[in-house]
Amino acid sequence: MGLLIINIKSLMQTENVARLKVCGKDMSSVGKLDDAYLLIKNGVISDFGSMDEIRKGIRVFEGSGIKEINAAGRFVFPSFCDSHTHIVYAGSREKEFSDKISGLSYEEIAGRGGGILNSARILHETSETELFNQSVERINEIIALGTGAVEIKSGYGLNLGDELKMLRVIGRIKEVCPLEVRSTFLGAHAVPDEYKQRRESYVDLIINEMIPVVASYDLADYIDVFCDRGFFTVEDTERILMAGLKHGLIPKLHANELDYSGGIQTGVKYNALSVDHLEYTGDEEIRVLADSDTMPTLLPGSALFLGLPDPPARKMINAGLPVALASDYNPGSSPSGNMKLIMSLGCIRLKMLPEEVINAVTINSAYAMGLSETHGSIAKGKVANVFITKEMPSYEFMPYAFGSNLIDTVILKGRII
Ligand code: NIG
Ligand code: FE
Repeated sequence: MGLLIINIKSLMQTENVARLKVCGKDMSSVGKLDDAYLLIKNGVISDFGSMDEIRKGIRVFEGSGIKEINAAGRFVFPSFCDSHTHIVYAGSREKEFSDKISGLSYEEIAGRGGGILNSARILHETSETELFNQSVERINEIIALGTGAVEIKSGYGLNLGDELKMLRVIGRIKEVCPLEVRSTFLGAHAVPDEYKQRRESYVDLIINEMIPVVASYDLADYIDVFCDRGFFTVEDTERILMAGLKHGLIPKLHANELDYSGGIQTGVKYNALSVDHLEYTGDEEIRVLADSDTMPTLLPGSALFLGLPDPPARKMINAGLPVALASDYNPGSSPSGNMKLIMSLGCIRLKMLPEEVINAVTINSAYAMGLSETHGSIAKGKVANVFITKEMPSYEFMPYAFGSNLIDTVILKGRII
């Protein structure tokens, strides 16, 4: 039982010594083997090397059950790791899209009962089976677009029953879909209407009721808070993170999207795996991140969609930080999970180099979801999640051809999808 991909134009993101993340100036290089083969056995990367070894008979792969794929003219990449999504949701919010075009801000739309609360209302009225079916359609869409690992947040429930409904749907996706899934509890995504004048009581509910139940059913790997102006304060965030940590939930935060919210500092203080968005990042935030193991994660799809200022990716990388990129796939601020487009936005909007965006959507985003020991690069023993591109002239063509789908064959856990 195995797969042998031969004549690969370039095998991308190869590692002889696997790293957990790539920082600063190291982000501008990517391991690459031209004219290569890749051998997959039992769902893992078993070997890779130069085609010359096969031609000269140094390496012989004969034996039962090895299927050969000829990738002449084509590239093989490790699958994208999308470390920040809200892909489990019901319905859609294109009406608000028009409001945005007419000039209303994200916060104004939220203030009128639109935004996250609108999605929470629709989700409440949608059965668990229907929510699963709608979500799996999007999961299949991102698999075809090259994603092999995805983090999915709750946060459109905003009451115990509906948060559990979302988390169970994420759990079923984990079980039945071929990609790797990590689950994050985001009860603190917005303050529900009933708690509008008493946000602290909603925070109490999250701490005293939601977190213990979510943890007791083992429904989440991580915990998240939307720590930003108009949503949750640093104090709320600290209380929630402490409660989560008591139950073994590692923090990943929404931070500094709408203001210098203190979210980055709070995330670092509680050893968050990642802090995400970061449009409002200054020298102080960069200094704090430099002293940490927290992965700065940028979401250029939502910054583009909402017309937010771009986060200072160049400044971060020049200061020696690692950077991850993720899609933020959600109905309100980033209705797309196309990680190849995210690579292009990284280059076009954030002025990252093609090599830097490749590192940002593979190994660094794997780190941001706790998966970089097993995913995010081509290294022996890692899970065989890869895709074969269409014929293309160079790897830089991937982010350059920003509107073309260049992903041809998807292989997850060693199986062609
Ligand atoms: O990551 N910033 C907070 N939450 C989501 C938006 C979710 C929504 O609008 O539905 C985000 O952009
Ligand atoms: Fe988000």
